[in-house]
Amino acid sequence: MDLEQHYSDHLDTDSLLKQIKTRYPDGPNVYQLAPVDQLHIGGIKSSEKLLKRLEQINPTRILEIGSGLGGLMRLISDNFKHTELIGIDITHRFNLFNNALTSLNPTNKPVQTITCDAQQMPFADNHFDCIIFQHSLLNIPDTKACLAECHRVLSSEGTLLLHEVLEGSNPEQMRYPVPWAREQKHSHLIPLTTLEQRLSASGFLLYSNKNWSEEALQWRQRQAGKEKTTQPVDTISPALVLGQEFKKMGPNVMANLNAGAVEVRELVCRRD
Ligand SMILES: C[S@@+](CC[C@H](N)C(=O)[O-])C[C@H]1O[C@@H](n2cnc3c(N)ncnc32)[C@H](O)[C@@H]1O
Repeated sequence: MDLEQHYSDHLDTDSLLKQIKTRYPDGPNVYQLAPVDQLHIGGIKSSEKLLKRLEQINPTRILEIGSGLGGLMRLISDNFKHTELIGIDITHRFNLFNNALTSLNPTNKPVQTITCDAQQMPFADNHFDCIIFQHSLLNIPDTKACLAECHRVLSSEGTLLLHEVLEGSNPEQMRYPVPWAREQKHSHLIPLTTLEQRLSASGFLLYSNKNWSEEALQWRQRQAGKEKTTQPVDTISPALVLGQEFKKMGPNVMANLNAGAVEVRELVCRRD
């Protein structure tokens, strides 16, 4: 199975669109879509924290790498009306469905998505002043190539904002499947020290580093409570994106956080 199959083979677009349209005939807002389009630990709450960061950065041209089903893009688009925003994702069906979700609500601005690999991007040098990763570096095998591309397309005053899963202090405790990988071959977690070295070697200066693991764990615990009382495949849930195995993925994320196999961090960097 390749990475695109991991993300799109279980994506039931017809069933999802039907359920969303039935439940929200006037068009869903970002909170109503959050169970399916915020495919990261921490859900929409963590995306709102990234928005606060963006308010400080005040960018004019944003690139989101691995934009998935577009949860963060629609939040940004709602809050930064005059900012250019492009999302890239290697999973073409995610980009198509991202656009379909946006068009369900007539008040949404269309989102611009491109299917490509973050290790080789189709953009001019220095084009963006902000690049965001939200749980996507974790799938990218060649971090160095990807960061080199980020450095190339980011302007000299630009900011790199990461909300990522990193390898924790007990990687031997890692359990699969997790939402970003059914098996180890798609999970490219690196420890913080390695990421710091690679950022520095790629010309980035890390100026803020926050550990969001505790909050991530609490969020996952709340989700587990909700999942116990609902039937995941019959409701608007990540199971309609990731399939029945999602029943194992959620508990594994919690176990991995509890065991210190993974950690969740927000990192903010500038071009050196
Ligand atoms: C765990 S999902 C997160 C999606 C979204 N950022 C979110 O938080 O809801 C990871 C995303 O990264 C994308 N991705 C993985 N490797 C990529 C690459 N090399 N280039 C571009 N996108 C990639 C996947 O297709 C997937 O949509």
